[in-house]
Amino acid sequence: MTNRRLFLSALAGAPLLWTADTPKRDGRVMSTRPFDIEMDLDGFADYLTPIDRFYVRTHHYTPNMKAETFSLEVGGTVASKLTLSLDDLKKMPATELVSVCECAGNGRSFYEPAIVGLQWEHGAVGNAKWRGVRLADVLKKAGVTAAGKYVLFNGGDTPVGKMPDFQRTIPLAKALDPNTLLAYEMNGETLPVSHGFPLRVVVPGWAGDCWVKWLTNITILDAEFDGFFMKTAYRHPGKPVTPGVAVDPAQMKPVENLHIKSVIAMPRDGSAVSPGKPVRISGVAWSGLSPVARVEVSVDRGRTWQPAALGAEKHIFGWRQWSHTWTPSTTGHYVLMARARDVSGDSQPFEPEWNPSGYLWNVVHRVAVDVTESPIAKAAPAPPPNVPDLAAFKEKCLACHDEKPIAQQRLTRAQWDREVTKMTNWGANVKPNEKDEIVDYLVKRFGPRPRR
Ligand code: HEC
Repeated sequence: MTNRRLFLSALAGAPLLWTADTPKRDGRVMSTRPFDIEMDLDGFADYLTPIDRFYVRTHHYTPNMKAETFSLEVGGTVASKLTLSLDDLKKMPATELVSVCECAGNGRSFYEPAIVGLQWEHGAVGNAKWRGVRLADVLKKAGVTAAGKYVLFNGGDTPVGKMPDFQRTIPLAKALDPNTLLAYEMNGETLPVSHGFPLRVVVPGWAGDCWVKWLTNITILDAEFDGFFMKTAYRHPGKPVTPGVAVDPAQMKPVENLHIKSVIAMPRDGSAVSPGKPVRISGVAWSGLSPVARVEVSVDRGRTWQPAALGAEKHIFGWRQWSHTWTPSTTGHYVLMARARDVSGDSQPFEPEWNPSGYLWNVVHRVAVDVTESPIAKAAPAPPPNVPDLAAFKEKCLACHDEKPIAQQRLTRAQWDREVTKMTNWGANVKPNEKDEIVDYLVKRFGPRPRR
């Protein structure tokens, strides 16, 4: 099925949208409904990521919102509550900035042992031009009282089943930062439906979980919010922990700024090149709050490093394109690496910093390339396990989403057991006597296995 058709089928069953969304191309669909898609490595060739390639991360089903009936409510510890229409917001002074938006879970699929969650590789990230109003200007209109400490965002998406609502806070100081926006345009176009039409939060330098889409409510709180997506999800230990070991969410902190990172977009891992011919190694690098200072490339497994040429286009929160030309003289199997450093001196690690939800992967990217006169025959991947169908799985597990979010997992029995409990709490109709059979089936089909 083409991505366009997949995308359209993602909308099937949802209420009629008043405006068509931009179809996506070339991406890897992680879930059809809720809609999650990651950008292909080709997408890194553009400085501004085209909307039809920009990744989408959605926790619930996409809401059907209309510009004419839209309103933003601002309340909590404020001097005067506000109700603003889209026109009210557009009459306020507009600000435009370029910023990377990266999902906190980008790169999760590379962690070992495997971690439950969407198995993003490199493409849950994009760089766009966002236009809207400063959140600080909206808060000034409402007059935040001295008690205000956190700013809670809620969107017009409604949870699937009994899943907790997606609501996130940022500290008041971050909300007042002049770069924090409420955006109604992306790359010069009306904000597309899957990116939060008509209004989304833009928090440059911070992970995408703060960039709440379909924003309808802002509430100023005098204490941290205790909803699921602040108290349990999107938390990071902030220190090295033993891989595979559970950490109490109370011992972790909310994910905030992105880490320095670079991706090699070309050549592709596993590709073959000819000796004596120049090879352009290229990609992008980005960081959280400190801009990228330099990118270095190694073609000899990290023994020696060469500076890459940085692209001319730069914005404080945007990514930086880079390239380096390498002419391999001898045939052989090479491992290319790229390592970025930001202005503050922070650089990428060579080994993963495992954390329980698999957030903020920024390990030095390695790409294996064969320099060869003749193509190398690669071993065929192992066929998928042949497991007889289980009616209970289809009936209980494919009621809210399709098989895609399930099939990408590589989980142990204990992890599947916890996942089925989580889904049952969210509304999956799994009776206690049916659970073992479903878990057995899941382990046989989607159990631990080497990465593709
Ligand atoms: C009541 C609706 C519902 C049912 C039924 C359901 N799920 Fe889910 N499931 C969800 C939602 C919603 C998500 C996406 C959550 C997100 O993106 O934050 C999800 C996501 C997942 C994921 C991706 C990882 C994660 O935890 O987000 C897996 C794996 C999964 N479900 C497995 C299952 C299995 C196995 C079953 C059957 C036992 C099942 N689901 C039944 C609602 C459901």
